[in-house]
Amino acid sequence: MIPSTTLKLMTRPLYVASRSFVSGEPARPTIKTEIPGPQSAILLKDLDSIQAMKSVQFFVDYDKSLGNYIVDADGNTMLDVFTSISSIPLGYNHPNMLKAFDSDHAKKVLINRPALGVYPGNDWVDQLRNVLLSCAPPGLDQVITMMCGSCSNENAFKLMYFKYMDKVRGGIPPNDEAMKSCLDNLSPGTPRLSVLSFHGGFHGRTPGALACTHSKSIHKIDVPLYDWPVADFPRYKYPLEENTQENTAEDKRCLDKVEEILERQTKNSNPCVGIIVEPIQAEGGDHHGSANFFQGLQDICKKHDIVYLVDEVQTGGGPTGKMWAHEYFNLRDAPDIVTFSKKMLTGGLYHKPDLRPNNAYQIFNTWVGDPSKLILLDSVLKTIRQDKLLETTLKAGDVLLSGLRRLENQFPSLLHSARGIGTFCAVDADTSARRDQILAKLRTEGVHCGGCGETAIRIRPALIFETKHANIFIESLEKVLKTF
Ligand SMILES: Cc1ncc(COP(=O)(O)O)c(C=O)c1O
Repeated sequence: MIPSTTLKLMTRPLYVASRSFVSGEPARPTIKTEIPGPQSAILLKDLDSIQAMKSVQFFVDYDKSLGNYIVDADGNTMLDVFTSISSIPLGYNHPNMLKAFDSDHAKKVLINRPALGVYPGNDWVDQLRNVLLSCAPPGLDQVITMMCGSCSNENAFKLMYFKYMDKVRGGIPPNDEAMKSCLDNLSPGTPRLSVLSFHGGFHGRTPGALACTHSKSIHKIDVPLYDWPVADFPRYKYPLEENTQENTAEDKRCLDKVEEILERQTKNSNPCVGIIVEPIQAEGGDHHGSANFFQGLQDICKKHDIVYLVDEVQTGGGPTGKMWAHEYFNLRDAPDIVTFSKKMLTGGLYHKPDLRPNNAYQIFNTWVGDPSKLILLDSVLKTIRQDKLLETTLKAGDVLLSGLRRLENQFPSLLHSARGIGTFCAVDADTSARRDQILAKLRTEGVHCGGCGETAIRIRPALIFETKHANIFIESLEKVLKTF
């Protein structure tokens, strides 16, 4: 009798190396119309009659989209290296995710969506422990789910305020005057506190998160916000290895500025209760900070006894080749809070135990998350482990980055500053207009890519993106660059 292991080997097709993680995935893009095509244009006109959503680029056929390929309403099949703003972990219609709702139990979780803060299902604790805590950043064992990235940050700020005010009161609960005055947004119940953020950062669009967002004016114009302080995030010269001295000085300049601001805020009776920072400033232009910078920030937070919040909404969930980008920074201790959403499929925050709120309903909303998202996330995490997708991401990322470096050398007047970790890569064009032209031309080549900041081309594929996909991307970009 043939042993079962041999049987498995015998039934494995010979073309294993070129197979994709999602079988049936197209081998290459195919473009039939301009994008947006006629069908998208009809749908856009129809949508516009009932909804002002001028941001829509094209409509998608989610039934037909598969793996790394997105199919639009006009039947154009594009290699997707943007994945709904970096939020699709395993590409389109991954069989493991489709299977996740096969059971009656899963369907019941989907339809009976509870107010989790008051009526969690009897398997909720297991779900939190087995799914969300199974991939928690090292050193963090408390978790709260939320709906999106913005509200994760918004509630993270609340944890900062609670901790600070608890310390101010010496652990004594707020008195009657405080409880009464807060209802009218007055002192002492409504304190004057601030959160420090960075120029170029993006943390969301609800008021607190928006006060910490500094990437594009259109996100903020006409919205009343807190006058919270903003510090400089390092802006490095590339290639990094040729500019160590300048970049180290840049880290020091930025860290000194943070200290200066913290002291000024205290003097002005608007103390900072925490710092929020992205491991890589994504929306703002894919600006990287060094391990030295992030360690320095943590030291400053510890010195001032304020909260260190690392916003991993865009970087978390694997695109850098680690579950959490801050794991690259060798921090001396875990950050106090790590927020997530996007590829994690649910918003939420991991935090240290000393940030647990004292009272019920202080961190709360009707749903506080959605258990059905944890069913999906469970299948995503199992697939990441089983298919070693973090390794795949690192390998594909190497091909992307070396390809981008080759192209910036080949076209020095068009591209510069290739950078990235894993597939979380970017390269700058010489001007904003050129960046936009490159993105438009890439689309006609069948590659859907995005931009960020003023001039960056932002690459954000799914975790099933392999070296062969990276090669298609680089070939297409080269073809586009040759047209200028
Ligand atoms: C780093 C970061 N934080 C927060 C957010 C806000 O997340 P959401 O759009 O889910 O509110 C985003 C969204 O792009 C982000 O990139």
